[in-house]
Amino acid sequence: MSTLKAVRGTRDLLPPETALWNRIEATARAVFARYNFGEIRTPVFEDTALFARGVGEETDIVSKEMYTWEDRARAQSEKSQSLTLRPENTAGVVRAYIEHQLGETGQLQKLYYIGPQFRRERPQKGRYRQFYQIGAEVLGPPSAGSESPLRDAEVLEMLATLLDELGIAGWTLHLNSVGSSADRARYNEALRAALVPVVGQMCADCQRRAVTNPLRVLDCKVPADQPIIETLPVIADFLDENSQAHFAAVTAALDAAGVPYTLNHRLVRGLDYYTRTTFEFTHGGLGAQNALLGGGRYDGLSEMLGGPKAPGIGFAIGLDRLVLTLLAQESAAPQVLADAFVAPLGDAKDKTKLARINAAALVLARELRHQGLWIELGDGGFRLKKSFETADKTARRIVILGEDELQSGILTVKTFSTGIQTKVPRAELAVFLSN
Ligand code: HAM
Repeated sequence: MSTLKAVRGTRDLLPPETALWNRIEATARAVFARYNFGEIRTPVFEDTALFARGVGEETDIVSKEMYTWEDRARAQSEKSQSLTLRPENTAGVVRAYIEHQLGETGQLQKLYYIGPQFRRERPQKGRYRQFYQIGAEVLGPPSAGSESPLRDAEVLEMLATLLDELGIAGWTLHLNSVGSSADRARYNEALRAALVPVVGQMCADCQRRAVTNPLRVLDCKVPADQPIIETLPVIADFLDENSQAHFAAVTAALDAAGVPYTLNHRLVRGLDYYTRTTFEFTHGGLGAQNALLGGGRYDGLSEMLGGPKAPGIGFAIGLDRLVLTLLAQESAAPQVLADAFVAPLGDAKDKTKLARINAAALVLARELRHQGLWIELGDGGFRLKKSFETADKTARRIVILGEDELQSGILTVKTFSTGIQTKVPRAELAVFLSN
């Protein structure tokens, strides 16, 4: 019988790497708390219409990458409906904002999330079919200041702080403005017109996009199309006064805060909800899939989903890609060894004595763990040689607990890196092991 494996594009995350995932998530939560964000948890699957309307029918995500199924009704009171595993979480957050009438509070909503997303993409390094995002959204009624360019700058400054605190060296922030929906409409017209004489020489995807959604042509990665794309009009020339002033205020605040960025007029992003500021942080160490994170402003998304006016801005970080980047930086390698291995020394044949020494070892391990140490616990039934071999693989030190040690309260500790054996009084053991 053939053995079953994880589905293509999905993977199991195992220790010790999961320790790094946990550290990243804990750092993100701590940074978000300092910026007054709270956590939102939305369902992993939603009504398919949410993504069709929110992300856009013509995007790659909706047109070819979603995991969608017809969910059969289980009772007469239910209707069968089309459901989709979330390919991203901004649409879900805005749906929850509308559903819970969070706009009624009159306050800005500052929400973050950490969780899996699903896209049927071609798997490769840094690109999976189940992947994880750490994201955040700031949205609210215009009266709460949700349209202010200060919000954009604050979100970008927070990202720079988070990446720095995680120890990610060498990121680049690419920044652009795709204008208001009116600016984009004018730009789309100009692009459509400019594409007419050249689109025949472009890839099949571009030929389709030129008709359905010309902006998407700028996302094209086909090398032969690049010289043509470079000749197309740029969005910066189509921004009205308001959009120009908004973008200028974002860059001025970033300059003041000392957050470095690169202007990139082709950064239109692969989702249709964006307006004005768009951005991506890239990292050279990632190879082809070099976007660590992406985001932008979506001033019309709530209304596109039938909600009130609720401009917003947000981002999502590819957690898998953060991990890849940190693993490539040696200093971030997760701790893989426990502080100590507590090895009870028993007599496998004398069940009473064995039970007593094992119980004593559990008590010692409990004491040390309560003091914050990372402890692995052996078994008095092991021979001493086996205890040493196991300890050497799992911990930095071994603590021997035999009848003598139990009586005297003085423990024998061996440090593997130096080979030195030391006698340590029980009361001093925790301090000794933490060094
Ligand atoms: P996105 O650019 O589609 O934006 O995804 C954000 C990040 O998720 C990417 O930069 C990348 O790091 C990671 N990512 C995307 N697809 C994959 C994949 N197949 N495998 C591994 N990592 C992946 C959004 O999702 C928007 N919702 C971001 C946003 C929030 N905009 C406003 N608010």
